[in-house]
Amino acid sequence: MILGISGSPRNQTTNYVLNNALEKLEAEGFKTVLFSVNGKKIGPCLHCDYCLENKECIQKDDMSELYKLLPIVRGIIMASPMHNGGISAQLKAVMDRCRALYAIDTNILGNKIGMSIALGGDRSGGQELAIQQINTFYIINGIIPVGGGMFGANLGACFWSQDSLDGIKKDDEGFKSLERTLNCFIKAYYQYMK
Ligand SMILES: Cc1cc2nc3c(=O)[nH]c(=O)nc-3n(C[C@H](O)[C@H](O)[C@H](O)COP(=O)(O)O)c2cc1C
Repeated sequence: MILGISGSPRNQTTNYVLNNALEKLEAEGFKTVLFSVNGKKIGPCLHCDYCLENKECIQKDDMSELYKLLPIVRGIIMASPMHNGGISAQLKAVMDRCRALYAIDTNILGNKIGMSIALGGDRSGGQELAIQQINTFYIINGIIPVGGGMFGANLGACFWSQDSLDGIKKDDEGFKSLERTLNCFIKAYYQYMK
C-alpha cells in the first residue's frame, strides 16, 4: 500500500495533485490511502522524551492514524504547499512526531520508497528546498528517496499553482514532472520491494 500525506491545512491544490498521483498509482495496480492534515489536530513535537521511555507519544491526537499507517505501508508520497519557502508547519509536525515511531524501532520506516511533491503560488517559491527537506526526512528515517530524473523532474514533482485550483490544472509542466517522478517511484518500488 502507498500512503499519500498532504501537508496542506485546507482542501485545495495540494490535495488535488496528490489525489491525481494516487489515482495514477491505483491505475497501475497499487493500493493507496490518502491522509490529509486538513481538519486534523496534530500538535508539534514537545521534545518531552515520553516516547523514548514509553514507546508512544504523550499527545493523543490525529497523529494516531499515521502511527498505524506509517509502519505498514511500502511507499510514501509527501506533498506540501510552500509556506515561506519551505514545507508547511503541519507537515513538519507530522515529521517530528515520527520520533515516537523511531522510539519503538529505529528501522520502523526503513526500506520504504519515498517521493515528494511541492506546490507554490509562485513558480520559484521554494519548491526544491521543500523537496530537499522531505528527502532529508526520508534519508534520516531509512526511507529510499526517489526523484524524477533529469530533463523534466529532477528532485521530484514541482507545481506552480498560482494560488488556485484553476491555476494548478493549467500547470502542464507540473503534471509532466509528476508523471516522471511517479515512473521513477514505480520503477524503484519494483526494484527494492521484491
Ligand atoms: C502562510 C503561507 C505562506 C506561503 N508562502 C509561499 C511561498 O513562500 N512560496 C510560494 O510559492 N507560495 C507560498 N504560498 C502560497 C501557497 O503555497 C500556494 O497557494 C499553494 O498552492 C497552496 O496549497 P493548498 O491549496 O493545497 O493549500 C504561501 C501560502 C501561505 C498560506
